Amino acid sequence: MEFSTQTTASLHQIKTSALAVGVYADGLLSPAAELVDRAANAALRAVVKAEFRARPGSVLVLRNLPGVSAQRVVLVGLGKREEYSARVHAAAEQAFAAACVSAQLTEAVSTLAALDIPDTPLRARARTAAIAAGSATYHYDATFGKPDRDARPKLRKIVQVVERADTAQAQQGLREGAAIARGMELTRTLGNLPGNICTPTYLGDTAKKLAREFKSIKVEVLDRKQIEALGMGSFLSVARGSDEAPRFIVLRHPGTGAGTGAAAKKAKGEAAKTAAGPVVLVGKGITFDSGGISIKPAATMDEMKYDMCGAASVLGTFRALAELELPFEVVGLIAACENMPSGKANKPGDVVTSMSGQTIEILNTDAEGRLVLCDALTYAERFKPSAVIDIATLTGACVVALGGVNTGLFSKDDALADALLAAGRQSLDTAWRLPLDDAYQEQLKSNFADIANIGGPQAGAVTAACFLSRFTKAYPWAHLDIAGTAWKGGKDKGATGRPVPLLTQYLLDRA
Ligand code: BES
Ligand code: MN
Ligand code: ZN
Repeated sequence: MEFSTQTTASLHQIKTSALAVGVYADGLLSPAAELVDRAANAALRAVVKAEFRARPGSVLVLRNLPGVSAQRVVLVGLGKREEYSARVHAAAEQAFAAACVSAQLTEAVSTLAALDIPDTPLRARARTAAIAAGSATYHYDATFGKPDRDARPKLRKIVQVVERADTAQAQQGLREGAAIARGMELTRTLGNLPGNICTPTYLGDTAKKLAREFKSIKVEVLDRKQIEALGMGSFLSVARGSDEAPRFIVLRHPGTGAGTGAAAKKAKGEAAKTAAGPVVLVGKGITFDSGGISIKPAATMDEMKYDMCGAASVLGTFRALAELELPFEVVGLIAACENMPSGKANKPGDVVTSMSGQTIEILNTDAEGRLVLCDALTYAERFKPSAVIDIATLTGACVVALGGVNTGLFSKDDALADALLAAGRQSLDTAWRLPLDDAYQEQLKSNFADIANIGGPQAGAVTAACFLSRFTKAYPWAHLDIAGTAWKGGKDKGATGRPVPLLTQYLLDRA
C-alpha cells in the first residue's frame, strides 16, 4: 500500500475512482464535503438529508455527481461533531478503504485526515489513516490451494488531500503509519500461519529474511546446541517435548551509523546524549501450545497456533523501526519452540534449572510461556538495557480480566509504564496497567525449588508477571500480556497485529 499527499483547493476537479469526504451527524458537512457540495449544486446536501445518518464508520457511495470529476464520492460518517475522536477517525478511514476494496478499486483519494479537528495534530491523524487503511486491506491467502484472486484487495494507493502548509507533517505521519501497517501485516501473517508451517525454524528464517531486506538489522539464530551451551535449562525443558527444533533468535538494530536517511544523521548528536543502552524487546514464540502433559481441552485448541504472537510482534516492530531508521539501538530476543506432550516432555513436579541459576518446579506444563521467557530475560542482561519489554500471549486469566480491548501491562517502573500507556493511547492500541505487588509473590512458593511455575487460581495474570519479575532485577522492565488482544476468535478469527502500533509508537516517542 502506497500513501502520498496532494494539495489542491479544487477538490471537485480531482480525477480519481473514489473521493472520501466526511459528514457529521445531523446533516453537518465537513469543510471538504462543503466544497464538493458547492461544486455539485447542493446535490450532496440533499442526499445526506434524505438518507445518510453519518453513524461513525458508515459509508454511502455516490456515483457521477454533477460538477465533480471523481467517479465516486464516498460519504463517510463521522458521528456527532462534538464526539469526534481519533478512534472515530480511524473507523472512518478503515470504512473508506474497505468500501474501495469491495468495489475492487486500485487507488483513491481521502480528505479525512486533513479535516479540521481541534487537538489532534495532522501528523497523528495521517499516521492513524495509514494504519487504518493498511488494516482494511490486509488479506490472508498463504494456505489456500487456489487463492481467490477477486478477494485479494487491489487497492494500492490512497492519496490524502492536505493544505499546502501541512504537507510535511502529513507526509511524516503517513510514512510512520505505513511502516507500522507493514509491520502489522508481517505480524498478522506469521500469527495466522498454521503451526506446521510457522515453526521455530520458520520464525528464524523470517528474521534472517528481514535482515536481508533491511541492512541495518543483524540477526543471529541459535540452534538447540547453542541454546544448551548458554544454559537455558528452563527454555530447553519446554522444547524437549517436541520433535520440532527450537530456535533462539537475536535481532539487532544499531543506534547510529545505520542508514543514510535524515533520521540517522540527526541521530548522531542525540545518541551521544542518550547513550544509555538499548531497548530490548522479548517475544514469546510458542509456535503451538498443546499444554504439554497438562494438556488443553480440544475446543479452540487450534488457536494455540497464535501462541507465538509475541514473537511475531517483535519481528513486525523490527520491520517498522528499520524502515523508519530509528536513531537508537533496539535488540529483539525470541525464544521459539513448541509445547507438546511426549516421552521427553516436562512432567508436573519436574524441577528444572534456569539460565539465572534459579530452580523452577513445574506444577503445570501449560504454564510454559514463562519457562521460555525467563531464560530470554536473563540473556537480555548482557545488553545492559535501558528498558526491557516482553510481549507474550501469557495467560487466559488476562483475557478474563481485560478481554480483547486492552493489553495487560505490568511494571514496577512508573516512567516506563506511563510511556507505554501513552504510546498505546496515541496509536489506538491501548494497554491497561495491572498490579505487581510483592504480596502476590507468596503464591509462587515451592516446597522443592526456588519458585513454582504457577500461583494457583487467583490473579493468574499477576502471578505470571510475578514469575517473570524474578528474572528481571538487572534493568527497568515491563511485561505486556497480549493473550486477549493479539488475535480474534470466532467467525472473524485472525491475528490483529497488536501490539505493533503501541511498541513502534513507544520507540518513536523515545527518538
Ligand atoms: N498460551 C497460554 C495462554 C492463553 C490461553 C492465551 C488461552 C490465550 C488464550 C499459556 O501458555 C497458558 O496455557 N497459560 C495457562 C497458565 C496456567 C496453567 C497457570 C492458562 O492461562 O491457563
Ligand atoms: Mn500454555
Ligand atoms: Zn502458551
